[in-house]
Amino acid sequence: MHINEDEKLKGSNEVHQEVDDVTQIKYFGGHEFDGIKELDNPLPPWLKYLFYVTIVISFSYLVLVFIFKDDSIIQRKEYYKEMAAAKAETEVAVKEEAGKAAAQPLTQEQILAAGKTIFDKTCLVCHGRFGEGLVGPNFTDEYWIHGGRPEDLHKVIVEGVLDKGMISYKSQLNETQINNVIAYILSLQGTNPPNQKAAQGEKFVRE
Ligand code: HEC
Repeated sequence: MHINEDEKLKGSNEVHQEVDDVTQIKYFGGHEFDGIKELDNPLPPWLKYLFYVTIVISFSYLVLVFIFKDDSIIQRKEYYKEMAAAKAETEVAVKEEAGKAAAQPLTQEQILAAGKTIFDKTCLVCHGRFGEGLVGPNFTDEYWIHGGRPEDLHKVIVEGVLDKGMISYKSQLNETQINNVIAYILSLQGTNPPNQKAAQGEKFVRE
């Protein structure tokens, strides 16, 4: 059996040397089946050189990426670079914004406008559209039940006067909102709107 196969191989080696009658191309050794033989047909030159070119490209790519670690080819490096640049940019922008906000505190008008918005939404129902008083006391006269200093108003707004119907706004308004609405209420002093509620409490004299 073994001997037979060896002989067959020998035979095909001899076939390898043969040349096709028509094309004059050499046969490719050892590839024969049912009398059909494979020709040793050369690759078209453009394909062969393209193949060499791909070898050169892949080799230079390997060298650039793993030896010289070229930034323009390693996308990960590029990515981190871009991300760092974007982060720096946003940080600068945020700082600028913060700087602007710190440099320009709210003007008196802005504080009063913010206070009025809160008053109209939350306090108007009991203290009247113009602070003239309704269920709650008049804010436009000089009389105050709990005192007319900003800190007196603050205390009432934060703690409320629950048994008299004034709610605590501790959970609804933050410190800034409370201070804004206090500024607005105090700005109503002496505005003398119609339908004022009768004075309640003590006359308060501002120093
Ligand atoms: C449900 C009705 C009601 C609402 C709403 C209300 N108040 Fe009052 N408020 C009162 C009443 C009633 C009093 C009087 C309490 C008393 O007699 O001690 C009062 C008193 C006050 C006082 C003290 C006045 C004084 O003479 O010492 C301040 C300040 C005040 N309210 C602020 C506010 C603010 C600010 C809001 C909105 C965030 C508000 N109130 C919403 C009913 C209300």
